Amino acid sequence: MSQRILITGGAGFVGSSLAVLFKQHHDNCTVICLDNLKRRGSELSLSRLRKSGIEFRHGDIRNKEDLEGLEKIDWIIDCSAEPSALAGINESPHYLLNTNLVGTINCLELARACQSGFLFVSTSRVYPFHAINSVPYYEQESRFTWEPAHRSPGVTCDGISEEFPLDGARTLYGATKLCSELLLQEYSEMYGIRTVVNRCGVITGPWQMGKVDQGFVVLWLARHFWDGALSYYGYGGLGKQVRDVLHVADLFELIDLQIHNWTIHNGQTYNVGGGVSGSVSLYELTLLCREATGNTIHIQSVPESRPGDVRMYVSDYDKVCAATGWKPKRSVEDIISEIAQWIATRQSELKPILS
Ligand SMILES: NC(=O)c1ccc[n+]([C@@H]2O[C@H](COP(=O)([O-])OP(=O)(O)OC[C@H]3O[C@@H](n4cnc5c(N)ncnc54)[C@H](O)[C@@H]3O)[C@@H](O)[C@H]2O)c1
Repeated sequence: MSQRILITGGAGFVGSSLAVLFKQHHDNCTVICLDNLKRRGSELSLSRLRKSGIEFRHGDIRNKEDLEGLEKIDWIIDCSAEPSALAGINESPHYLLNTNLVGTINCLELARACQSGFLFVSTSRVYPFHAINSVPYYEQESRFTWEPAHRSPGVTCDGISEEFPLDGARTLYGATKLCSELLLQEYSEMYGIRTVVNRCGVITGPWQMGKVDQGFVVLWLARHFWDGALSYYGYGGLGKQVRDVLHVADLFELIDLQIHNWTIHNGQTYNVGGGVSGSVSLYELTLLCREATGNTIHIQSVPESRPGDVRMYVSDYDKVCAATGWKPKRSVEDIISEIAQWIATRQSELKPILS
């Protein structure tokens, strides 16, 4: 594979991890990472990228000039975003809208100029939260669970599928991602751009700079590691809300398959995540973090839910599995122990950011 891949947001968690893995698996490909380094901690990726032979370009996708001079790109993997579902709450949504929407347009325009393929890392947040929260559920000792017998469009025994209705509010973050997906469809139809959309649940792994509004798995581990403060926000404040968790290396394996078999995946949209077996509640995550760090910390309880929050989300990845044979390989336990090891070995550089 001697392709030229541009990864926007390439110093961020997902972007830098994909970049390093692409170089590891395909030594002869050229990987260029573009990032404005807005996310605190993204700067730590720069030496890692350099050591892997990856070109770094400091730039902002809101400015189309910053994308000029990038020629002969075969694939753009768009990982540059304001990735928080809480963005725009009690603050101006300007940065979110300009990056996640105007930025996508600028990246699509580059794709049009280069006739490159466009792989978009979208989100489960495109699905409306009121509708997700109205799926019948019951409460177990450590988590909420959807009623197994319940079936409605897009709700299967494996979770939420691509058939889930899209009508309703989904957070501004989710809305910018869905709008971007629609633009990809138009660029595909009108300009023949190859596109693939992966709607991901929670992605995690080493090099995620977890913070309160995004990257909760790393945040949880780091707070346990350094005896920090944590709260169970919402849904009664007991930590029973559930998410499915995907290791970024599993995502890489999927994207690698998609790029190499793009004729099958061209124009497709897939739900991608850890699925039922890769799901975890916050309370269960606490137990895993205690075990991984040997520390028990007090966790505050805040019963009121945050705006736009969902009680549960688990990806039904059947469609992508049927198309590729792909399934996530790394268990939640393995992911936790890998992140714990990463924190332990890089304490001095990570403490100012994660503690
Ligand atoms: N991490 C997850 O759980 C998750 C889940 C679903 C989808 N996603 C999507 O994956 C992508 C990557 O997310 P992440 O977790 O790596 O987040 P991240 O914050 O670690 O990475 C995003 C990177 O984009 C950069 N960036 C922000 N605004 C920019 C701009 N205007 N121009 C150039 N660079 C800019 C940031 O500095 C950061 O390095 C995002 O599109 C996000 O929506 C992430």
